[in-house]
Amino acid sequence: MRAMKSSIALLAFLATGLAAFPAVSVKVDVGHPGAAVNPAMWGAFFEDINFGADGGLYAELVKNRGFEFPEPLMGWAKMNPSLARGDVSVRTDAPFNAANPHYVRIQSEGTAPLGLSNEGFRGIGLRQGESYEFSVRIRGVAGTPKLSVRLYGGDGTLLDSAELKNFTHDWQQYTATLQPGDTDPKSRLAVLLDGAGTVDLDFVSLFPAHTWKNRAGGLRADLVQALADSHPGFLRFPGGCVVEGSVLARRYQWKKTIGPVEERPLLINRWSYEFLHRPAPDYFQSFGLGFLEYFQLCEDIGAQPLPILNCGMACQFNSGELCPLDALEPYIQDALDLIEFANGPVTSEWGAKRAALGHPAPFNLKLLGVGNEQWGPEYIARYIRFAEALKAKHPEISLISAAGPSPADDNFKFAWEKLRALHADIIDEHCYDKPEWFLDHAHRYDAYDRNGPKVFMGEYAAQSVGVVSVKNRNDFGCALAEAAFMTGLERNADVVRMASYAPLFAHVDAWQWTPDLIWTDNLRTLPTPSYHVQSLFARNRGDQVLPVTLGGLTGEAAKRVYASSTFDTATNEVILKLVNATAQPLTPTIDLTGTRELKPGTLIVLHADNLAEVNSFEAPNLIAPRETPLAPTGPTFNVTLPANSFTIVRLGVVR
Ligand code: AHR
Repeated sequence: MRAMKSSIALLAFLATGLAAFPAVSVKVDVGHPGAAVNPAMWGAFFEDINFGADGGLYAELVKNRGFEFPEPLMGWAKMNPSLARGDVSVRTDAPFNAANPHYVRIQSEGTAPLGLSNEGFRGIGLRQGESYEFSVRIRGVAGTPKLSVRLYGGDGTLLDSAELKNFTHDWQQYTATLQPGDTDPKSRLAVLLDGAGTVDLDFVSLFPAHTWKNRAGGLRADLVQALADSHPGFLRFPGGCVVEGSVLARRYQWKKTIGPVEERPLLINRWSYEFLHRPAPDYFQSFGLGFLEYFQLCEDIGAQPLPILNCGMACQFNSGELCPLDALEPYIQDALDLIEFANGPVTSEWGAKRAALGHPAPFNLKLLGVGNEQWGPEYIARYIRFAEALKAKHPEISLISAAGPSPADDNFKFAWEKLRALHADIIDEHCYDKPEWFLDHAHRYDAYDRNGPKVFMGEYAAQSVGVVSVKNRNDFGCALAEAAFMTGLERNADVVRMASYAPLFAHVDAWQWTPDLIWTDNLRTLPTPSYHVQSLFARNRGDQVLPVTLGGLTGEAAKRVYASSTFDTATNEVILKLVNATAQPLTPTIDLTGTRELKPGTLIVLHADNLAEVNSFEAPNLIAPRETPLAPTGPTFNVTLPANSFTIVRLGVVR
């Protein structure tokens, strides 16, 4: 009798226990797919910030190659050994190209080599075993001196050299191929006049022979590869605030970025002086990465191009200068011409220019941003002018409109109210906030108006400390919060059509803004945990949203466990994304209802022992997705979600 009583008590305890801690369940309704996921849902935001273009993606290794910086010898040092007699001077008379007026004259008595060395972008990254293409414009003035082209390592070791000679009295291009004998991220390039005489030099350039697709004067292969590996569905370019400029005269003007590189006028990069605590006085835009190259890059990596154009407003964090409404026409014409440049037939004016630049086929532009991060009635007034002109001529182009820098303030609400009334296509929302904000707002879009404008989550990134804090780190906690937030974007793929983390690249020795998706130095790339989150979403996109129901979550887990699911109709796979942002592991029962048969698949887990962990050049793969096979025997099975983890279940099914 006593034994029976204690058994009953035990059963009662277990029953209570079970009631208090019900089994955690994740139910995916595979038989009832919902909204279509935009194939271009997960994209990338590129801006020339943090030496993202010059000193980054654009593979030119010489800084200030044309001597056009306001201090014409910035980045250059005179190599003037004590024995050398002569002069190095900057001149502008009879340049090789009027758009590039400054050049250097070296006049030497021949007592010792005399010339200049270039420091590159915080050093020049050279790899042993690779070739580097040197080129320079030279005009021989007097004598028959030679030009010695030398690569020096950071410690002064000569890594390779070449000799140029027989200079004519008119400007000519001379080239040499160099092969450094060592790998060094902090090398220098020297150009030295050897022998008595005088020459004029300009446009001194050094590129790795191995660029992306080995295009001469092209892009850094490892950076493009990292970008391509993240499978962006679109590429937003060229920014960001560089679109706006601190004043209108310094806005981004795409027409000045096409054609011969030596004719693209240099512009100071607004990030060189925006943050006085991170000054970069040597940060300029050469536009070697210009609009043709952006379109080409999109084509190469299968990303839809999304150019953002200035709408007649300078950055509202700076001057906020406005182009008067009755003077907007050239801005609008730039937008119309850009569409023609991208899509027009080769018989059209701008289509012909595209063809003349080597790309007769159109770029299939479908999206265009009107202004970057603008706000207020001034923006709406300008947007209306753009929209009227663009929609009249190009109804096929979806326009992205701005809602300011905050995802919730009065400017944001004002923009939404006005743009909704105007039936705007897609509104660009920006969210930079602490990880907790992203965790708390994963349901932000659940209640959005299904009939209003669509959303482009155009810039977002969790800030470990705070917006524009130099102490922000790309830690795992930020990445996990972004993953949680992204489940909300995916669940609401009918409203949120596109999303991109920002910014994309940052040079470890030359950044202005942190966090960033991919860090680089002169030779390496470092994927952050956030990069892995972005890549995992893009590589596991699916094309139909599947309804997911979470059950049995209590306590912290009720708030901090997130899920979304999609179906990939091409491969007949269910893709389930689960974020466990709690400090406890969870083993939910997964129920794929509506499936008749399951095929073996994979389990992908992104996890770190500590939310503060980061990847580093010393341990670049510390935080990286781990993939294991998964072969459940039926549609109901268990999966363990480690504490603080992002998990993807990917399984083929028959529905
Ligand atoms: O991503 C960095 C900056 O943040 C962008 O240039 C701007 O649009 C935003 O304020």
